[in-house]
Amino acid sequence: MKHLLKLSDLSKDDIYHILNLADQLKYERKNNIHKDYLKGKKLGMIFRKSSTRTRVSFEVGMYELGGMALFLSDRDIQLGRGEPVKDTARVFSRYLDGVMIRTFDQAEVEEFANSGSIPVINALTDYAHPCQVLADLMTIREYKGIFSGLKMCFIGDGNNMANSLLVGALTMGMKFSIACPKGYQITPELVEWAKKYDGMFEMTDDVMQAAKDADVLYTDVWASMGQEEEKAIREKAFAGFQVNAQVMSVAKKDAMVLHCLPAHRGEEITEDVLEAHAQEIFDEAENRLHVQKAVMVKLMRD
Ligand code: CP
Ligand code: NVA
Repeated sequence: MKHLLKLSDLSKDDIYHILNLADQLKYERKNNIHKDYLKGKKLGMIFRKSSTRTRVSFEVGMYELGGMALFLSDRDIQLGRGEPVKDTARVFSRYLDGVMIRTFDQAEVEEFANSGSIPVINALTDYAHPCQVLADLMTIREYKGIFSGLKMCFIGDGNNMANSLLVGALTMGMKFSIACPKGYQITPELVEWAKKYDGMFEMTDDVMQAAKDADVLYTDVWASMGQEEEKAIREKAFAGFQVNAQVMSVAKKDAMVLHCLPAHRGEEITEDVLEAHAQEIFDEAENRLHVQKAVMVKLMRD
């Protein structure tokens, strides 16, 4: 593993390795016995979109590992004024030991990885959010113990989260059902990819059918970053695609609810469901820190 660009690049063993290391790092942090696994290492953090969790968890994570992180908003670096990605990648490779990138186009993180000589971590594109899904898997394992035999259900937009959850869930042996409005389904390439998991994948526009007997319910915003001007159209298209008490009533009694956050209460999730499941949702947010530290150690340690 040289980069973390998308989850489908990782094997089941790679994912288990990251999750086991993340559990270890979480334990070490809790017991105050953490070590400087990345002493003196430098991580660049390129942000072309906003962030709360990703920015803080990477920056704190790098500090806790004994390294340093540089926050590089595209408003401040020449990349934002049109300097080519391939030049930025080659320059950063002379200064840094790794880079995480949050941007729009998946091709940009791929190009960065191909042009530079340092590990690249995808910190969200329009196509994928692998760091989030690794934290989600870590949280599911903490609560449920195992993956195989579980059913994950995603309700909402077939966006970056849905794309990555599909890959993460099926790779780890979970069933994956998804309910999206027509016209907002997940990437066709991934529907094709999922065909090898015969009987494990279901795509529908029927929310109740998708949620039936689910062990994990997941949702995300109806309008992602960069889609702000579609907000009104999307509010109409997504009406009913909400995780609420009625949906919970057909899921398993002990179903967990996860949300990558930020959440829009009253849209993709109701206030009561979110607050009833706040424990696992905020454990999930915390786990971004541990899992990303594990990814950085795996990619950047000598
Ligand atoms: N879930 C997530 O990636 O959050 P941020 O956008 O706040 O980083
Ligand atoms: N789908 C959302 C995820 C935010 C973490 C977005 O891309 O804005």
